[in-house]
Amino acid sequence: MYQTKIAGLGKYVPENVVTNDDLSKMMETNDEWITERTGIKERRHIKKGDGNSTAVMGVKAAKIAIERAGISKDDIDLIVFATLSPDYYFPGCGVQVQEMLEIDTCPALDVRNQCSGFIYGMSVADQFIKTGMYKNVLLIGSENHSGGLDFTTRGRSVSVIFGDGAGAAVLTRSDHNGEGILSTHLHSEGKHALELSLKGPSTEHWVPEIIAENPQGDDIPYYPYMNGQFVFKNAIQRFSEVINEGLQANGLEVSDIDMLIPHQANLRISQFVQQKFKLKDDQVYNNIQRYGNTTAASIPIALTEAWEEGKIKEGDIVVLAAFGSGFTWGSAIIKW
Ligand SMILES: CC(C)(COP(=O)(O)OP(=O)(O)OC[C@H]1O[C@@H](n2cnc3c(N)ncnc32)[C@H](O)[C@@H]1OP(=O)(O)O)[C@@H](O)C(=O)NCCC(=O)NCCS
Repeated sequence: MYQTKIAGLGKYVPENVVTNDDLSKMMETNDEWITERTGIKERRHIKKGDGNSTAVMGVKAAKIAIERAGISKDDIDLIVFATLSPDYYFPGCGVQVQEMLEIDTCPALDVRNQCSGFIYGMSVADQFIKTGMYKNVLLIGSENHSGGLDFTTRGRSVSVIFGDGAGAAVLTRSDHNGEGILSTHLHSEGKHALELSLKGPSTEHWVPEIIAENPQGDDIPYYPYMNGQFVFKNAIQRFSEVINEGLQANGLEVSDIDMLIPHQANLRISQFVQQKFKLKDDQVYNNIQRYGNTTAASIPIALTEAWEEGKIKEGDIVVLAAFGSGFTWGSAIIKW
């Protein structure tokens, strides 16, 4: 069995900064409400005409990760792309990335696990590398939320939370046993699928049907729906469970954690988890204040920034954990 290590990381966020005050000009909200409930001060939104899309942002992050990994794009054996906001209903963004990177041909797999998408993708990549089937996997998480949110007061409880951006990692076969991804644990509970969901367009809600059913447009299933408090309660429980599960599987204690990078769902969720595990401020990385919740992109953006800032050193135990729509959740334990 081989082991998988992270050889390169990259991130990209659009230049367009949208503050809480900017949002308060579009809907009835304010900086105080958003800051108090979510910790978010600003987020990035794609601007029409800036050339960005989910796949384009993914490619920008990927190019940095590939360069830092010291490989050529032609060394990539598999692309795994995690997003809930693809450029097209089909095909997925993975094939767009293959084309934009000018890779002749390679397998491209799209992962549909929302906020847990990067950890699901990492687990998939890890299995392929461990078995020896592939050596280098390009894993991307990218989201263009702003294109699909309701920026009227009707959508405020969802639209203030989410932001655009992308993160990427090159995962590579490691020559040194004991370093790299030690474990991944994945879960889902589909009975709560609709508690955080976007119902249409889909085979149940095609666009003409949606328009016919909602002539007034007041209950629009092609804007996301979120049962915020229910999501919150489930998130704090599942985050804790899946971190413990990962630690136990590796015979590790909470005191072994050097850096926890939680999916940036909501600062209050991260703070709850931090308190529960009695971690110090410098053991938990948060950047939701600047980017909002970027779903599948949030962990790779945060991981890239933590690494760029020198907060992750060789030999560190880094814990990634996510929870989100599905419900899905997961963790990855990495020895850096
Ligand atoms: C979304 C969330 C911030 C809402 O906070 P909350 O304390 O549950 O607030 P509520 O939804 O109960 O709303 C409270 C009030 O604020 C109002 N409100 C909602 N969004 C608002 C906004 N953006 N600005 C101002 N007021 C807002 C509501 O209308 C409600 O008003 P009312 O009391 O007059 O009815 C919170 O539930 C949450 O963080 N949930 C988890 C979300 C999450 O992490 N999602 C991603 C998972 S991956």
